Amino acid sequence: MERSRPFDPKDFRQALGMFATGVTIVTAQAADGMPVGVTANSFNSVSLQPPLVLWSLARNARSLEAFRSAGHWNVHVLANDQEALSNRFARAGEDKFAGLALEAGLTPAPLLGGCSARFQCRTMFEYEGGDHVIFVGEVLDYDRSDRAPLLYVTGGYALATRVAGAVATKGCTASDCTPYSEDLLGYLLGRAHYQFLAGVRPMLDRHGLSEADFFVLALLGVREPLDAAEIAAHTAYTGIDVGPVLLRSLVARGLLQDQPGQCWTLSAEGRDALLHVLAAAKAVEADIAERLGGIGTAALRNLLKQFIAASDPGLPKLWSM
Ligand SMILES: Cc1cc2nc3c(=O)[nH]c(=O)nc-3n(C[C@H](O)[C@H](O)[C@H](O)COP(=O)(O)O)c2cc1C
Repeated sequence: MERSRPFDPKDFRQALGMFATGVTIVTAQAADGMPVGVTANSFNSVSLQPPLVLWSLARNARSLEAFRSAGHWNVHVLANDQEALSNRFARAGEDKFAGLALEAGLTPAPLLGGCSARFQCRTMFEYEGGDHVIFVGEVLDYDRSDRAPLLYVTGGYALATRVAGAVATKGCTASDCTPYSEDLLGYLLGRAHYQFLAGVRPMLDRHGLSEADFFVLALLGVREPLDAAEIAAHTAYTGIDVGPVLLRSLVARGLLQDQPGQCWTLSAEGRDALLHVLAAAKAVEADIAERLGGIGTAALRNLLKQFIAASDPGLPKLWSM
């Protein structure tokens, strides 16, 4: 059977890109003793018994001869915070290993740290694969961490998150049902916010703090001194009135200190209260993160950052100024 039609290379690549993969860096030691490494998403498992894996390398890769002659190579399954490392090993021509701490492995192949999993392999078979060479290796040793893996799909990096099957939307067919579903983002965000806050509220109460009080303390905890206009600019999006009355009340309760020029800083007491509430918030976060798992937590954080960027009304930058 002949190919049905001429393939447009870009379109063919895009079709292949619908298959989501992880991202790996494969390393080896060249005959001259220099380390080589490439970013590769062609990695896959082959066999459990014996333990075999494969990956393919472009024939025009500068490291091809090094991998062919090395006989051993290490596959590093990258973690979700290793995107920069992936980009570094995908660029030809730079010193890919500059500044990286290497660990000792079973073989001379360089071993990188901070990954989700690592497989130390020796070449078992080498196959011709068109414009690529396919390496099949026997796994001599492996290790893994609980770091969430980095994914690659439709030409970009992605994070894995499990499908929340248990909270799938229920159909709404009755004519009298409400015009929103449990998938409404506003509902999900609001409910998540209040459920999180419920865990922190006992500590707020212990220090006699309202949410508005805490907002001001948290703001000054990141940057101080701030004047009334700056505080208002940073808190406007909450709809909470952080005006002179609230600020005077915080000063009267010994939580803020007046500074020259109508500015405020945290008092020692205010900083202490802030640290207690933040510690409570971190404990709630740790508990939820454990239930969501490393992958779910990383994906949630990523999506919330994207949501905040997409809906940012133009707030002054709090951390980067
Ligand atoms: C996410 C990603 C996956 C890649 N996967 C492969 C792959 O499986 N095989 C390959 O030959 N190149 C792959 N590349 C491209 C190589 O990493 C890149 O061409 C690299 O510069 C080759 O290194 P070298 O020429 O210094 O040997 C990938 C690049 C990226 C960004």
